[in-house]
Amino acid sequence: MRRKAEAGPPANGTMEFSKDKKIIFSGVQPSGNLTIGNYLGAIKNFGLFQETYNCLYCVVDMHAITVRQDPAELRRRTYETLALYMASGLDPEKNVLFVQSHVPAHAQLGWVLDCFTMFGELSRMTQFKDKSAKNAQNINAGLFTYPSLMAADILLYQVDLVPVGIDQMQHIELTRDIANRFNQIYSDTFKVPEAYIPKTGMKINSLADPTKKMSKSDENQNACVYLLDDRDTIIRKFKRAVTDSDTVVKSAPEKDGINNLMTIYSCFTGKTFEEIEREFDGRGYGDFKLAVGEACADALSPLQTEFHRLMNDKAYLETVMKNGSDYASYLANKTLSKVYRKVGFIAK
Ligand code: TYM
Repeated sequence: MRRKAEAGPPANGTMEFSKDKKIIFSGVQPSGNLTIGNYLGAIKNFGLFQETYNCLYCVVDMHAITVRQDPAELRRRTYETLALYMASGLDPEKNVLFVQSHVPAHAQLGWVLDCFTMFGELSRMTQFKDKSAKNAQNINAGLFTYPSLMAADILLYQVDLVPVGIDQMQHIELTRDIANRFNQIYSDTFKVPEAYIPKTGMKINSLADPTKKMSKSDENQNACVYLLDDRDTIIRKFKRAVTDSDTVVKSAPEKDGINNLMTIYSCFTGKTFEEIEREFDGRGYGDFKLAVGEACADALSPLQTEFHRLMNDKAYLETVMKNGSDYASYLANKTLSKVYRKVGFIAK
């Protein structure tokens, strides 16, 4: 029997990666309503790269089921996350936008990498420890091996840069360790990726407890500002944000609440901390909180309008995800077949 020639790029999409450009990959779990933490730490930055890099952005639905999900809600949030990528400015003609479960190579490489990831390494992951404390009834194997699936997401595409918030740094470091380990055993197979962490916005904290990360799975709705919150809700949440008993808008190491609000304001307005301190010199926290709420609502308003327009056109979203996953599969299968061959699987 003759071996099949390697498949070329799919004919249906307009997408074709340029050989001279570096590659970017990132993903967001459709596991809750997305917050301004997801936006400022990750999604807002994705658009920065679309002209100069080959970019893939994935809705990682397979990661989401490591925590119990309602199936209808998971489906709705998967569409929503894709629409939010696009409403944030990602052009599907310039970026490969797709859903993780549509590209089986993620699960296939995930299994192989499970066999190159150590129990001790996975046990040290802080996200695993946090999530197992929160989901004591459901500490499943997927939650434990989550980082090797995440490594597969990245390593499949020979990625240079992974834009994420600081909470994902430990996972990226493990991805690098797994890649290096595999490369040492089998010769160069994977590009070893680097994280891109934004200077401002790498960790947006909860409005209810500014010592903790803002998280889409937080049960306290006032702790988070969601990307789809309406203007009044956004302004109300910022007005109620926990701060200290001081009144001067000035950053200081112990002023977690004010530091967090200044970071959010800086991300939405582009102003530096010094400019913000000058702007609010002689004015109290009340004025400042209102300004942060208004800046956030103003920035999210066009995104929300575009989001609702896209959500009314499911057929278009489905075309985008289909074209994206066809091209992603084409790229992913090249790496997967190399890996299968190197570990000793017989080619089909
Ligand atoms: P997830 O879905 O928790 O978050 C998506 C992105 O948002 C960032 N982020 C934040 N940044 C700043 N402040 C916050 N409060 C905040 N909360 C979340 C996250 O750092 C992330 O960049 N494991 C990933 C998803 C994933 C992935 C990947 C990412 C799966 N495979 C491959 C990159 C590459 C996660 O749980 O993200």
